[in-house]
Amino acid sequence: MPSKAPFRSACRVKVCLGAALGVLTLTLASAASAQELNLYTYREPGLIKPLIDEFTKETGIKVNTLFAASGLEERLRAEGASSPADVLLTVDIGRLQQAKDYGVTQAVKSEALEKAIPAAYRDPEGHWFGVSLRGRVVYASKDRVKQDAITYEDLADPKWKGKICIRSGQHLYNVSLFAAAIAHMGEAKAEEWLKGLKANLAKKPSGGDRDVVKDIAAGVCDIGLGNTYYVALMLNGKDADQRKQAEAVKVILPTFQGGGTHVNISGVTLAKHAPNRENALKFMAFLTSDTGQRIHAHVNHEYPINPKISVDETIASFGDLKPDTLPIAEIAKLRKTASELVDKVGFDR
Ligand SMILES: [Fe+2]
Repeated sequence: MPSKAPFRSACRVKVCLGAALGVLTLTLASAASAQELNLYTYREPGLIKPLIDEFTKETGIKVNTLFAASGLEERLRAEGASSPADVLLTVDIGRLQQAKDYGVTQAVKSEALEKAIPAAYRDPEGHWFGVSLRGRVVYASKDRVKQDAITYEDLADPKWKGKICIRSGQHLYNVSLFAAAIAHMGEAKAEEWLKGLKANLAKKPSGGDRDVVKDIAAGVCDIGLGNTYYVALMLNGKDADQRKQAEAVKVILPTFQGGGTHVNISGVTLAKHAPNRENALKFMAFLTSDTGQRIHAHVNHEYPINPKISVDETIASFGDLKPDTLPIAEIAKLRKTASELVDKVGFDR
């Protein structure tokens, strides 16, 4: 079983906010402490820092952060009972559910969390909680696409032949969308739909959501699928090329026939062996507090999970989001089938 040393050394080679703040407290990270919290996250440092700064200001609890691009669920599993992790903060139900399936999370019963987070966006057994929402939506050329409304089902219409761009069908964002399609249409119809969508692609699935925006701006395709916040980040970012690309694109909030817009969550879980359990619970409650929600939603242009908190201006300009009412936990159950369908129809080939 690995010791807790890897947490400390990883902090040294990656970005560790505790260290960045000049707080040399990592030697305490392995022990329970009234003053500390160990956070594992995939989320970008720029998003996390304002949240952590505010949390520390409010509570006096220092947050030691381990950032990684992949493999945190596996790491938690390998560390087992000696893991220093208290909280895992990540995106997409795929990763949250995987953490639960690996047995590295523990159930939480919290009135504060249940009050702030609608039931559709948390695990019925309390192992994961959504803290923000993102829509998986249609990006469309302002010049070449006149319509301002569309259904997901329409994306398989041959009228879009050679006009659609998308990242890999196996990317977790798409797998979750396709799982929602299965829930709405049934597996057989979803398979036909996926084949139709593939037949309409302008090029092999590749790149990321920002590349879809870029391709639409360059005329490679007319429409594409991506998450709401990428266009907002490009419009508000420092990169002049990306701003120009995003300005050529409009966001259409698609809906399933008889349903709403597919949303996914960024969310949080309490690590099974959290040494600083009480501090972790305070952090989880903070993320869903009005202050935490405002920071989270505005820095990364996500929809607050708490409907009482307003969305930021750019996101609001996309129109009124009517989130699909399908519980995220139902989508999680269909992800495996969705991933198998992606292979079955040769989506990425
Ligand atoms: Fe993303």
